[in-house]
Amino acid sequence: MEFSIKNDNPEKLLSDCVIIGVYESQKLSNAALALDNVSGGYLSNILKRGDMDGKADTTLMLHNVPGVASERMLLVGLGKESEFSEKQYCKAIRASVKALSNGGASKAATFLAELPVKQLSAKRKVALMAETTLDAAYRFDAIKRKKDESKKEEAKKGIATLYINVTLASEVKEAKAGLADGLALASGVSFAKDLGNLPPNVCTPTYLAEQAQTLGKKHDFKVKILEREELKKLGMGSFLAVSQGSEEPPKFIIMQHLKGKKDQKPVVLVGKGITFDTGGISLKPGAEMDEMKYDMCGAASVLGTFKTISEMDLALNVIGIIPTCENMPDGRATRPGDVLTSMSGLTIEVLNTDAEGRLILCDALTYAERFEPSAVVDVATLTGACVIALGHHATGLFSNNDDLANELLKAGEASLDRAWHMPMWDDYQPLLDSNFADIANIGGRAAGSITAACFLSRFAKKYDWAHLDIAGTAWKSGKEKGGTGRPVPLLTEFLVNRANSSKK
Ligand code: BES
Ligand code: MN
Ligand code: ZN
Repeated sequence: MEFSIKNDNPEKLLSDCVIIGVYESQKLSNAALALDNVSGGYLSNILKRGDMDGKADTTLMLHNVPGVASERMLLVGLGKESEFSEKQYCKAIRASVKALSNGGASKAATFLAELPVKQLSAKRKVALMAETTLDAAYRFDAIKRKKDESKKEEAKKGIATLYINVTLASEVKEAKAGLADGLALASGVSFAKDLGNLPPNVCTPTYLAEQAQTLGKKHDFKVKILEREELKKLGMGSFLAVSQGSEEPPKFIIMQHLKGKKDQKPVVLVGKGITFDTGGISLKPGAEMDEMKYDMCGAASVLGTFKTISEMDLALNVIGIIPTCENMPDGRATRPGDVLTSMSGLTIEVLNTDAEGRLILCDALTYAERFEPSAVVDVATLTGACVIALGHHATGLFSNNDDLANELLKAGEASLDRAWHMPMWDDYQPLLDSNFADIANIGGRAAGSITAACFLSRFAKKYDWAHLDIAGTAWKSGKEKGGTGRPVPLLTEFLVNRANSSKK
């Protein structure tokens, strides 16, 4: 999709469709008012007839409105003016994209970014416009058969070009900067969605490693892939134990975006990259097991965030670490009862081979020490228990440092990609006691997401660390099954804030 910033009159700007807002109680937005005037009250007449009441999530398409250059006009309900917030604004954008998704209007001109939204600058409104439009218009059709002509036609439908209008000529420059931010974020989000949605026979550990290398070449950052032999030398007994039941070789991906000052300690992002989680010998039940292709969404979000910050050319030192493998049952697979030696030296009793995420992350957390990080944030589809605790709205946030936790919480709020701070008190630690090793890999049914975080905390003692459990937020199930690209917005906001504060 192409975007450009305009500063024009709604009646003059030529497109296939002008998009304008109407509040509940039938109050017209400024752009709608202007169109009502040039059309001799055409819009107010329609509202009087009761065909559009301005409620949120409603739209009405009009054709050939007198005095207006564009042949179509889409009225978008905005809800109550007094309640028109960032959230309502995004809702209106989504409704407009949806309304045009199956129509013939390919060049649209939106005036929604002119709407006043509490505390939002024109720059932020335009960034949200690009981001939300691309999120709503996203389709995963990379591997659908394309021979069928009717399918091709379908692919052509919807918005191809969007003009985003701003009220003042003086806002154009800011709006362009906002557009660039929004596009960079959208491209990382879309990349993360694609990686998640790809089938597990395509998106293997090797594939993820290749994607990292391609991205690094394109944006000129360093990428290193460690193979099994090197991982053995490093002593990553825990990571390798998870991979040993699979025919797919494990990969350990290291990406280095070093655009901050030379002496600036880096932020390290660690992403769980299980490209398929069968549970291993502790095999999962069959229902919905296909969704365990999304068990690499932590890795996908780290790759997506790297794409975004590369496109932004963000002035910050950031390291990305992705341990990636499959968790399969096999004659050589790890058994319940096996004791592993992690890279840190801590021994781990495997009581359930399905608690594999923490087993690959713990070695990555130890590896992260060598970068002397200012903070380490790991991202993982770690526990079903987190979905039970928080559902599909909030990511679970755990940390050994409250300042870091608050920084991430704020970034989540600001980017509409929210997390919720969960407790990680020492009281929970004894649940991981083992009779046969330093630590067990599970802590029982109670507080499952917390004991998983407690397990990771044992390997993150040397730096400020946070853990994001995205099991409930990384993808959607059911009819709308698909990756969400979360938490790329949260991570990006967090890193942008760090880059801004390091400038001061
Ligand atoms: N990848 C799963 C977690 C998961 C399950 C995420 C369902 C989203 C939906 C993880 O590897 C796992 O299997 N965790 C176990 C841990 C248990 C054995 C302690 C779980 O949550 O059941
Ligand atoms: Mn598992
Ligand atoms: Zn898993």
